[in-house]
Amino acid sequence: MMSQEKNDELTRVGAGTPGGDMLRQYWMPAALTEELEQDRPVVPVNLLGEKLALFRNENDELVLMDRHCPHRGADMCFGRVEEGGIRCPFHGWKFDESGQCTEQPGEPNGSTMHKNIKINSYPVKEANGIIFAYLGSGEPPAFPAFDCFNAPESHVFSFKGLWECNWLQALEVGIDPAHASFLHRFLQDEDPKDSYGKQFRDTAADSEMPMTKVLREFPQPEIKVEDTDYGMRIIALRDLNNGSSHVRLTNQVFPCAITIPMSNEMTITQWHVPIDDENCYWFSMFTSFGQPVDKETMRAQRIKEHTLPEYAPIRNKRNDYGYNREEQETLTYTGMGLDINVHDQWACESMGPIQDRTNEHLGTTDKAIIQHRRKLRKAMAIVAEGGDRSQLPLHVDAEKAKEIKGPIAVDAIAPSEQWEEAWKERDAQRRAACEWDAKL
Ligand code: FES
Ligand SMILES: [Fe+2]
Repeated sequence: MMSQEKNDELTRVGAGTPGGDMLRQYWMPAALTEELEQDRPVVPVNLLGEKLALFRNENDELVLMDRHCPHRGADMCFGRVEEGGIRCPFHGWKFDESGQCTEQPGEPNGSTMHKNIKINSYPVKEANGIIFAYLGSGEPPAFPAFDCFNAPESHVFSFKGLWECNWLQALEVGIDPAHASFLHRFLQDEDPKDSYGKQFRDTAADSEMPMTKVLREFPQPEIKVEDTDYGMRIIALRDLNNGSSHVRLTNQVFPCAITIPMSNEMTITQWHVPIDDENCYWFSMFTSFGQPVDKETMRAQRIKEHTLPEYAPIRNKRNDYGYNREEQETLTYTGMGLDINVHDQWACESMGPIQDRTNEHLGTTDKAIIQHRRKLRKAMAIVAEGGDRSQLPLHVDAEKAKEIKGPIAVDAIAPSEQWEEAWKERDAQRRAACEWDAKL
């Protein structure tokens, strides 16, 4: 259990809060590239409690700036994108890419008022289908040499979805290896051949055993957590009672992402990005070590579960996530369909907009959650005290960033005493066979 004050510290995301200031030291996914693929490439972005407008200018460069005009607050998402910036349609004030007001056509000739008006404009960077933004002060950290960034565009599919809850509870479900045996339990195994693009539906590596069976029949994983240069490696070992063990490697990527195996050929790197204190987006990069990603199939699977332009899930708290009592008895543990994303969404949203951690009771399986909260607090203290930002996890320069690779996310089954060699071998094999340079 924690005090209300400590829970607020961990969960609030606005500028000037300890958590918000720490999160601003990192690149955050702001939008999908596909959102700007329209006649008028301007979209609203709500990020870390800030209301912003993202657009492509005349030269096709991305610009992210305050959404509300500093004159009388009109919505710049309806602005006129012109050479040299964007113009508010209310009274014609114009702003350049840096956010500087350059024209106020209704003011008297010779007025210099515009010189003193500047709105926030933030650096953005595009990588494999996601547009990242840096809302912090000082130099942003470099992008690490993660697989999801190294892989060519053909081997990465990106998507996002809205969850109506605080970002931290959304992240914490991803660093909790025990829940998969319950929340995502399938009471029957389907044919793993139909598993493309779905999680936990392949066979466990090097075996004929469907992952659904491993998770269902062995619900007490031994969990090991290791500190790494990007965050944490989380190892879940399931002793299969026949001399062999299932090992599953997942990762926490500081501060708000995870990298996990999806199938034998794909991993998922997923950021849980605060929109504000009570809402967040997951942004995922599905990265393939095998075939190029079938983006059409992957997108169709996900689009049919969401409404645009918000990427809001069709199953949500207003329709009980499609809960069905009969299904809960016969098919799934939750009764909420076969899409495991919906299960996670229910688990996180049902806690309330911000989980009341003054009432929680953490168990042995919450090891990684406990360690991650410690790391968050440590990072928040460094930022609050104006300390050396190179002490923050993953806050690295370009040289150092080249060395931060992977993270390895893999499933394997091996003789119990060889589990450590087994995941290394399994990962090395697929990297060696990979079309793009996936060497570690
Ligand atoms: S509100 Fe934007 S120019 Fe007046
Ligand atoms: Fe889950």
